[in-house]
Amino acid sequence: MTKKKIAVIGTGLVGTFHAETFFRNPNAELVAVCDINKEKVNSVAKQFNCKAYENFEKLIKSEDLDAISIATPEQIRIEPTVLSMEKGLMIFLEKPLGKDLNQIKLLVDRTKDYNKIISVNFILHEDPRYKLMKQKVRQNEIGNLVSCFARRRGSRAGIEIYAPWTDLLSSTLIHDIQMIMSINKSKPTRVFAEAVIRECEKFNSHDAVLALMKFADGSIASFETSWVLPKNQPEFLDPALHIIGDKGSIIIEGSSTGLSVQTESSFQKPDMVHWPIIDTKVDGCLKRNLDKFIDDCIFDKKPDVNLNDAFDAEKVVFAMKESINKGIPIDLIN
Ligand SMILES: NC(=O)c1ccc[n+]([C@@H]2O[C@H](COP(=O)([O-])OP(=O)(O)OC[C@H]3O[C@@H](n4cnc5c(N)ncnc54)[C@H](O)[C@@H]3O)[C@@H](O)[C@H]2O)c1
Repeated sequence: MTKKKIAVIGTGLVGTFHAETFFRNPNAELVAVCDINKEKVNSVAKQFNCKAYENFEKLIKSEDLDAISIATPEQIRIEPTVLSMEKGLMIFLEKPLGKDLNQIKLLVDRTKDYNKIISVNFILHEDPRYKLMKQKVRQNEIGNLVSCFARRRGSRAGIEIYAPWTDLLSSTLIHDIQMIMSINKSKPTRVFAEAVIRECEKFNSHDAVLALMKFADGSIASFETSWVLPKNQPEFLDPALHIIGDKGSIIIEGSSTGLSVQTESSFQKPDMVHWPIIDTKVDGCLKRNLDKFIDDCIFDKKPDVNLNDAFDAEKVVFAMKESINKGIPIDLIN
């Protein structure tokens, strides 16, 4: 089997995990990494034995590649994606898709006739619990969906690290919005959201958001998200998804899957789901989704979340922001 030649743009937290996973995948060849931070990119290139670039245009134009992975902040998502499309590459994109819905729409319009894979990294689809949940809903085991509840509460590390350049809904709650939209076959028709805006006012973001969503089939979903909890909260993210049908329910709670660690100085519920580091290597649903992308490229399979699916979730995120700003429910035009 020929290995898929791939490069990673952005070698921050998540891009370094991308590089590591492709480096370890026997069906991938990590050709290069790119970051505007010279020190960071050189160190990642050295660690994973590949070339280093500081300019993504130069990388895309000069290397012979099959695929690209784009893990820059979302402000720098659209340009490398368009250049990669012009080069005919298979594309793995971090979520969210961008900072501005009109720009995202332009990107989606440009990909209308693009026949190569564009996969967007909504990692919950590779969490076995969510996989089983989707399967059971598809097989009608809990009947018709009535209501869903999603929670994603982070520590205030989120405000420190992410609020200066992204926001709570686009970076965090979008995972749950997209997941609920992929479970519920009917389209969302209306959203209403309220926010607490205190520490995050200076970043034009929210400290906490509660939101409601109505679907065309009459079912409803509610969401709660925040990033204000102390940094020593036991679970680095406190997520949940509850699905209630008229013949049963499915409940997912937490990300430590039952593991808790008590020492003399701390109590922790380590993340065993998103990107745990096991035996010094990245693991969890982030790694599985990256490995799945390489499989999808090799076997020409459809990704779980393509650009249009991600765009649908972005429309809801921006409608929630509009609802918060205007203080009214927002109808969604599909
Ligand atoms: N799918 C997930 O579960 C998941 C998890 C974490 C982060 N993310 C997303 O991944 C993206 C990156 O997040 P992060 O936490 O790794 O951020 P980060 O700040 O740690 O890394 C971003 C990197 O991109 C680099 N960069 C910025 N502009 C660049 C450019 N023009 N060319 C090349 N490199 C450039 C920065 O120097 C930095 O090293 C964000 O959009 C975030 O929402 C997704």
